[in-house]
Amino acid sequence: MKTHRIAGSDLVKAAQLLRSGELVAFPTETVYGLGANAMDSAAVDKIFVAKGRPADNPLIVHLACSEEVTRVARDIPTLAQELMQRFWPGPLTLVLPKQKDVPNQVTACLDTVAVRVPDHSVALELIRLAGVPIAAPSANRSGRPSATTWQAVAEDLEDRIAGIVCGPPASLGLESTVVDMTSIPPRVLRPGGLSIEEMHSFVPSIQPYSALPEHGSESLVHSPGLKHRHYQPRAAVMVVDLASLTPSDFVLISKFRHAHYIGLTPPTNSHAFQTVLVCKNAEEYASKIFDFFRQADLLQADMVCCECVPEVGIGVALMDRLRRASHF
Ligand code: TXA
Ligand code: MG
Repeated sequence: MKTHRIAGSDLVKAAQLLRSGELVAFPTETVYGLGANAMDSAAVDKIFVAKGRPADNPLIVHLACSEEVTRVARDIPTLAQELMQRFWPGPLTLVLPKQKDVPNQVTACLDTVAVRVPDHSVALELIRLAGVPIAAPSANRSGRPSATTWQAVAEDLEDRIAGIVCGPPASLGLESTVVDMTSIPPRVLRPGGLSIEEMHSFVPSIQPYSALPEHGSESLVHSPGLKHRHYQPRAAVMVVDLASLTPSDFVLISKFRHAHYIGLTPPTNSHAFQTVLVCKNAEEYASKIFDFFRQADLLQADMVCCECVPEVGIGVALMDRLRRASHF
């Protein structure tokens, strides 16, 4: 299948493809999404084939506005309605009881559905023109770093999908925060672009995300996607605290022939790295990390050294992605 490049100003064609059961990647404020008509089970099946995604990992349904939420979800708690009003459109995904006619492929047979309204004019216009809810995971091959540019989408999915809407790079660069609204109190299943601090100033009872659960634990059942490999470049990823690096860590780093560095502080041993990217804050680091992983792969890197950041604000989601990408 030839993958059409579609301009962000020409969404009619992209919407037609979606309505006819094809896959179209599109920009959002978090990462690029790989969209299909969420109510068409055959179209949704194609997402799993194109990505090589495990069938037990459910998808997020994207809507053009919060009024459409009842098309896919029911019995919406008051607290969820308040969160929608406050944070949609935006990088917040809510897990809600699902409507019966949402295909099982979307929800991996759970009785809940994850929904969000993206804060991106192209994404919103595309969903509106398609006229159907759009199921969309991140537009990367399963296990790879998420795609934050249309070029990254093409790298992973060329000839496997019908179209790519070519917009600008994603501004946040990390995926949405997923909150389970079916538990009391609600709890964060995946940290993301909306920080727990921002949510707490509005709803203090939300339970923060608790680290990678052990296999077989209850949290895995609640968010099946958490147990799969994620975000990994081909190079080995090492997460370091520069302040506590020992001489033996430097020896380990120098064993790699093509090491690359990203962080907030310039490394003292900068000669050990082929490229050094020093970001001005955690927001910039978060927006660049997935692209840095992909560029490192293109440069045949064997190691990417990532400085750890304080776990506040976007730092929580960034550290989560770095840990999952890490091979050590
Ligand atoms: O920012 C984002 O969320 C991006 C853009 C494209 O919107 N999408 C995204 O989708 O990151 P994906 O498929 O890569 O991640 C979806 C996450 C997974 O961790 C999955 O397990 C969780 O949402 N999820 C989906 N449906 C769920 C449900 N019913 N219950 C619990 N977790 C669910
Ligand atoms: Mg993903």
